Amino acid sequence: MANEACTYVIFGATGNLSRVKLMPALYHLEVENRLPEGSKILALGRRDWSQQKWLDEVKIMLTEKARGGLDETVLQRFMARLSYHKGDLHDKQNYVELATKLADSNDFPSNIAFYLAISPNDFANVTQYLSEVELLTETHGWRRLVIEKPFGYDLESAQALQHRLSSYLKESQIYRIDHYLGKGTVQNLLVFRFANVMLEPLWNRNYIDHIQITHSEALGIGSRANYYDNAGALRDMVQSHLLQLLTLVAMEPPVSMEAESLRDEKVKVLKSIRNIPKQAVHAHAFRAQYAKGKINGKNVNGYLQEENVPADSVTETYAAMKLYIDNWRWRGVPIYLRTGKRMAEAQSSISICFRHPPLQFFRDTQVQSMQPNWILLGIQPEECLRMEMTVKEPGLEMRTRVSSLDASFRHAHENPTDAYEDLLLDVIEGDRSLFLRFDEVEYAWKIVEPILQTWAVERDFIPTYPAGSWGPEDCRRLFEKEKQFWRCSLTPEDK
Ligand code: BG6
Repeated sequence: MANEACTYVIFGATGNLSRVKLMPALYHLEVENRLPEGSKILALGRRDWSQQKWLDEVKIMLTEKARGGLDETVLQRFMARLSYHKGDLHDKQNYVELATKLADSNDFPSNIAFYLAISPNDFANVTQYLSEVELLTETHGWRRLVIEKPFGYDLESAQALQHRLSSYLKESQIYRIDHYLGKGTVQNLLVFRFANVMLEPLWNRNYIDHIQITHSEALGIGSRANYYDNAGALRDMVQSHLLQLLTLVAMEPPVSMEAESLRDEKVKVLKSIRNIPKQAVHAHAFRAQYAKGKINGKNVNGYLQEENVPADSVTETYAAMKLYIDNWRWRGVPIYLRTGKRMAEAQSSISICFRHPPLQFFRDTQVQSMQPNWILLGIQPEECLRMEMTVKEPGLEMRTRVSSLDASFRHAHENPTDAYEDLLLDVIEGDRSLFLRFDEVEYAWKIVEPILQTWAVERDFIPTYPAGSWGPEDCRRLFEKEKQFWRCSLTPEDK
């Protein structure tokens, strides 16, 4: 059934997220003819912009981001959907005006998605104002609220936020976004795991030695110090994106792709993660901050020299963790998560290391050691699915080397889509499977809470790593075995 026309109301439309992600994603949905006929996009911003000024701005945003260049015909169709509404988020009167504007269903379809691309401090108040002018009441058409991360600052604030939101909205109206769930490889992970029968027998503690999930960035914090210095890498990446990736790698097969089945299985994983007692925090977690260094041959500042960072900040820009999932499938298998800014390369990947095979069979040959098999899932910049196998080197000797079987899923002519395209479309379609249910958020906070609390009081010292490196050497101490190492490459030659 075709989707019904809807209105996307974007709060914070002139901000960075909207420029870089939301407007380009909506444009690309237009390219694909996926915006239902008659749909509108209403931008809300503080700036005193005319309709024409907004259209000009959008054109600039799209020129930078449109894949394959802007298509004039599509652009005209897209522009016809856009309107601008100037208003102050904190002013009640603004919401009265907004409601009056939206009430005219000749202009704006009455199925409405409100996208809060604004400071997390404003999430609850804006929702309250929307509710007070009855914009969240579903008498005519659906009303949905899309809320960006971070959902809370810690467990308590997340619960408080949830408490307020749930007094204005039903759970089915809330779309908590984690854009990692919209990424191509991440969605493919479900297909890879549950559409290939050969993997399932191996996907457990009997065959898997450990799992690593890495997100590294070459970029620093840019101009985000005001947010980042209060957040740090553990909150910014691990509590949200990396734990979400972990749930998909580790969950049991859900009954179906339907939202509640998927979320039930994800929550079970989070609930089964072994609690880290405060006295064990240092054995399970490592933090560090980037010092000055070189990226692509260029000198770059250390974190403390970045604009608006307090000189004595001990906020971590690198965080690593070791976790255990105490269930039948994963008992005893360490899961290592790490993330960092200003690292050697930008890379997001999941690396699964299998157990070592016995060497006995090769005892009278030149084979001295054997590499374990790995499954490598590249999320970005390279999207790939690879399996590393040991093969015999050609020639008269019995020597081995590692060969990589490539199951990459994109052909050269197939364009990658951005995660936000999938997710914005899911909102229109009412599909919440790639959005977070509150208990997922809550359990994710519970997992990192002891670490956050310990780090919060240890304010005298933080280890550093040079910008442009793969992070602090000392982080190796998280590994359970001498043979384990951080996997930095998706190719066998240079791991
Ligand atoms: C955001 C974090 O949620 O994700 C940023 O706040 C981080 O600090 C970003 O850079 C990474 O997303 P992506 O899609 O660029 O990997």
